Amino acid sequence: MSSTLKKAIIPVAGLGTRLLPISKSIPKEMVPVVDRPLIQHVVEEAIAAGLNEIILVTRGGKSAVEDHFDSHYEIETELERKGKTALLEALRAIAPPQLKVTSVRQDRALGLGHAIYCAAHLVNADEPFAVILPDVLVKTQPGVTDSNNDLKWMVETYQATQAAQIMVEQVPLERVNQYGIVDCCGSEPEAGQSLALKGMVEKPAPEEAPSQLSVIGRYILPGEVMQLLAETQPGAGGEIQLTDAIAALIAKGSAVEAYRMSGRTFDCGYIQGWLQANTVLGREAGLID
Ligand code: G1P
Repeated sequence: MSSTLKKAIIPVAGLGTRLLPISKSIPKEMVPVVDRPLIQHVVEEAIAAGLNEIILVTRGGKSAVEDHFDSHYEIETELERKGKTALLEALRAIAPPQLKVTSVRQDRALGLGHAIYCAAHLVNADEPFAVILPDVLVKTQPGVTDSNNDLKWMVETYQATQAAQIMVEQVPLERVNQYGIVDCCGSEPEAGQSLALKGMVEKPAPEEAPSQLSVIGRYILPGEVMQLLAETQPGAGGEIQLTDAIAALIAKGSAVEAYRMSGRTFDCGYIQGWLQANTVLGREAGLID
């Protein structure tokens, strides 16, 4: 029996070139979506799924991301003095007492697989962990509470079955070359369900894609993936790919499943997607018409 799932690795070392010039001197993870930075939405998603140990894989120049989860004595004292209790509570809720945030550095941009491997010493060999890519916001459908988010279902499915869970959604054929694409032997899981995976390939050409089910950026993985990452050679784009380590896990005979999300995604890693997230979620929050 492997240990409980409580850690989520969030890679935040990217340069954010698709968000320039916004991300020139602020980390892309600090760009606001409605009323809070992108990273706060993502950490809230992790907390709602019961993942309270966050490992940020970061780089120089991005300390604002870590600072956001630190207490801010000056502001807090000032709010207390002025009796602005609601604001003070909202500020403190960013880092509730159960949340533990650790950070490690990725010294070279060698790919997502390399970024995750930078946290290998913080995960036990038999300890499962989540990976959350912060560019993509995964939100529940309107009316569904955050405590029923897709990541939580993936955590619960893993705890019950010990099968790794990879969140997927359908993409148009012309966009399969931008994502990891899964092979479910011609079948497709229903929304909110998981189905065994036969393989996974990073950014295939449309004519070679095994399906149109793309990897969104939410994974629940067994600890042994770290060892596989150590052995993974550069793949698509000359980078060490997490997808290739997961494909090796499947080839070893470990259970890996595609989880079809039931919520909604907003890709905030590029301008249009980020604007759309602000428009849709801002309206839902009643902040704009
Ligand atoms: C990464 C993963 C890819 C996944 C994508 C989701 O690619 O390697 O498998 O589909 O995130 O956003 P990147 O966007 O870093 O190129």
